[in-house]
Amino acid sequence: MKKTVLTLLCIAAGIATASADDTVKSAMKKYFKPEDALAKKAGKGEASDAELAELLKCFEALTKAQPAEGNAASWEKKTSALVGAVKKIQAKEASGLSDLKKALNCKACHDPHKGK
Ligand code: HEC
Repeated sequence: MKKTVLTLLCIAAGIATASADDTVKSAMKKYFKPEDALAKKAGKGEASDAELAELLKCFEALTKAQPAEGNAASWEKKTSALVGAVKKIQAKEASGLSDLKKALNCKACHDPHKGK
């Protein structure tokens, strides 16, 4: 039940906000930053199927969001790497986890896209 609510929140954040920045911010706060964040859990290979599905929706919302800074092509590449990695993990492809760890590199994405 809790997971469903989170999923809906993440989707709602992707669709309902006028300012796309909010999508990125709320995704960061909920799915990236916490010690037990789903993105981190998935990177360790500890996310359940339901959690992976939730994370995928969140990453897909990110691909449609606007980064604070940086060009669209770079953002597209970084966010679709996240999506692709989760899809690989879902398909039980061995390289999925290492792909996700690479794509989750906070600094590599913050440097070009986070702004001040
Ligand atoms: C695909 C790119 C990307 C990756 C990967 C990424 N971030 Fe971010 N993050 C951003 C962007 C863009 C912002 C700026 C959001 C804004 O201010 O609109 C941001 C902002 C943040 C913020 C500030 C949110 C706020 O309240 O303003 C935190 C905290 C954060 N990221 C944590 C993390 C952590 C921890 C990781 C690694 C586990 C991570 N991020 C990985 C793109 C990324």
